[in-house]
Amino acid sequence: MTQPADVRTMGNRGAVRVLIFSASLRADSLNSRLAHLARSVLQAAGATVDWATMNEFDGPSYNQDVETGPGFPPGPRELHRRLEACDAFVIATPEYNASMPGHLKNAIDWVSRIRPQPFNARHGLLLSASPSMAGGNRGLWSLRIPLEHLGARVFPDMFSLAQAHKAFSDGGGLADGQLAARFEENLRAFLDLVEAATHYPCMKKAWVEFLGEPGDGVGRVQAA
Ligand SMILES: Cc1cc2nc3c(=O)[nH]c(=O)nc-3n(C[C@H](O)[C@H](O)[C@H](O)COP(=O)(O)O)c2cc1C
Repeated sequence: MTQPADVRTMGNRGAVRVLIFSASLRADSLNSRLAHLARSVLQAAGATVDWATMNEFDGPSYNQDVETGPGFPPGPRELHRRLEACDAFVIATPEYNASMPGHLKNAIDWVSRIRPQPFNARHGLLLSASPSMAGGNRGLWSLRIPLEHLGARVFPDMFSLAQAHKAFSDGGGLADGQLAARFEENLRAFLDLVEAATHYPCMKKAWVEFLGEPGDGVGRVQAA
């Protein structure tokens, strides 16, 4: 497998490859700052990290005529490719109107149509940052729904950074020591689970789309 340029491996942990990206498209994003911080924690904990930006995965609004005609746009195809190359993913996303940004849901919708469907049985950790007191946490609950529908193993503990515009130190870390420790603990606990699932798999990985519909054997059931 060809590794992207920005991939490093450290420590003695069993090899674990993690795709991480911020779902914000703007240059001065708080979520991108949080994702950068998560990347350094993951690398220090021994994970191999593939860093990406939402700009690489963004695409036009989903249209089934495009899917069946010209085919999948480059952005969603790239997200599919990068997910397939990793054991797990981390998304730091803004909250828009108490939900996830439309462009993130759009990317998930596109990718959900590509086979193999890459969210199935893949572990995911969700992060958010917002100037608000809730830190964008409602957006993460909305994001869990399509991901879990697609069979992703979404880590129970999500991390939402409240008042994010004031939370970072000049060096890019979290100014509050207690919060910084909790953030690192959250990421390391996630990595422990991914490592166990990657090296000691024990769960059946069949994924059934549209539960309750009679199976016709055409692209609805996928066993890993
Ligand atoms: C369309 C829109 C809707 C927003 N809705 C919310 C919201 O529901 N909750 C919230 O905490 N912040 C909301 N915000 C503020 C964002 O949290 C803030 O702009 C944040 O900096 C965006 O993340 P970013 O810095 O990573 O781009 C909204 C911003 C926009 C542009």
